[in-house]
Amino acid sequence: MSEIAVIGAGYVGIPTAVCFAHLGHRVVCADVDEDRVRLLTKGEAPILEEGLTALLAEGLESGRLRFVVGAADAARDAEFVFLCVPTPQHESGAADLSFVEQAAREIAPVLRPRAVVVNKSTMPVGSTDVVARVLRAAGAPAEVTVASNPEFLRQGHAIADTLAPHRVVVGCDDTEVAVRVSELYRDVKAPILVTDPASAEVVKYASNAFLATKISFVNSIANLCEVVNADMREVVLGMGYDPRIGFETLHPGPGYGGSCFPKDVAALLDMATSYGYEFDLLRSVVAVNERQRDRVVEKVRAACGGSVAGRSIGIWGLTFKANTDDLRESPAVYVVEALVAEGAELRVYDPVAAADATDHLAGVERVADPYEAATGTSVVALLTEWEELKALDFREVRASMQTPLAIVDARNLLDASALRLLGFAYQGIGR
Ligand code: UGA
Repeated sequence: MSEIAVIGAGYVGIPTAVCFAHLGHRVVCADVDEDRVRLLTKGEAPILEEGLTALLAEGLESGRLRFVVGAADAARDAEFVFLCVPTPQHESGAADLSFVEQAAREIAPVLRPRAVVVNKSTMPVGSTDVVARVLRAAGAPAEVTVASNPEFLRQGHAIADTLAPHRVVVGCDDTEVAVRVSELYRDVKAPILVTDPASAEVVKYASNAFLATKISFVNSIANLCEVVNADMREVVLGMGYDPRIGFETLHPGPGYGGSCFPKDVAALLDMATSYGYEFDLLRSVVAVNERQRDRVVEKVRAACGGSVAGRSIGIWGLTFKANTDDLRESPAVYVVEALVAEGAELRVYDPVAAADATDHLAGVERVADPYEAATGTSVVALLTEWEELKALDFREVRASMQTPLAIVDARNLLDASALRLLGFAYQGIGR
């Protein structure tokens, strides 16, 4: 059992904290937001994550999990301090380390001599050195070491991914420290890779960039399917059975979004350029992704007969993917903004996105259920793959809509044949 501090109670910090407590460690998790700390201390989860509330309750009841305001209070008795603060994107694309540096400055004076500071947020190559320098300058004991232990969890599956990761990567120049960090994961069944800090940092970016590349590739094949009259679903089946390709992350859609892929691809591009390497492949990945969102807008425009101006359109889904409340870099939000800019009037339904998420957009009415979103419209666009949309009574949807009864399914979620039989003009991606 170890004493762990987790700095930052966000999409990475909260799952990290509750899972370490679940594994038997004593965890203090810090955030700057007092309301958030109060909520978490009461056992209320400020983010939507399957299984989170149960683990939060377990940790609080066992006494192994506490939440505090301020990084220094959390770090005082810690053997390991996990930095889980945001690393947002600079205009240049580079990762902004100011929250990381601020946290390092706050914890430095209170750290124990043998404490290990662990970079869990996604940080560019060289960040372990940056954090070590900031710690020293702010008065940390000379024995304090810094390691990189990047996070690979997916939002919406954060608990399951943290407790059963595909791998744990620990980057540290000091092997004894790397082993100490690895031991925190003793009860997690996963291969553990101990390596140097730069390699660990690159693993994280390379993994996200590879998955983003896979998505842009799949979206490009889907676009090709549309012009050669092939069915992308069949193509995905035929490709996915090859284990070298696999079925995971092979779904075409409106392009990848979220707080990770867009930011990390941009940061890797910036990093490569700053070291004098032109990563042309990744530049194309970004271009394809941006174009993909526009293709969805074009499909909606076409379904409306060429122009969306003055048209009432139903929207199903706003979050960047299903099972999360996160709207950051959501392709759905991009499509909604583009349609509004072209003069459309939107009736928008999302099961979890914040009610005020579209307040800044004139021409958007948020409605309470998917049927209401379709009511009075002649075109509905499905932008996030919420399971509940599959189970709708499409006869009821049809009854509330006007002709020409079009559905643009940007996630290939729905049964195209069944919808066509019901009289809908159905447009998916690559089918
Ligand atoms: C991603 C990675 O999957 C995690 O391994 C990583 O730890 C995380 O970023 C991070 O860096 O913190 P996440 O952003 O939660 O996780 O979401 P994903 O489920 O990977 O989806 C990202 C985007 O790609 C979504 O917009 C999703 O709709 C899209 N996507 C995903 C597709 O369009 N097609 C697919 O087949 C899969």
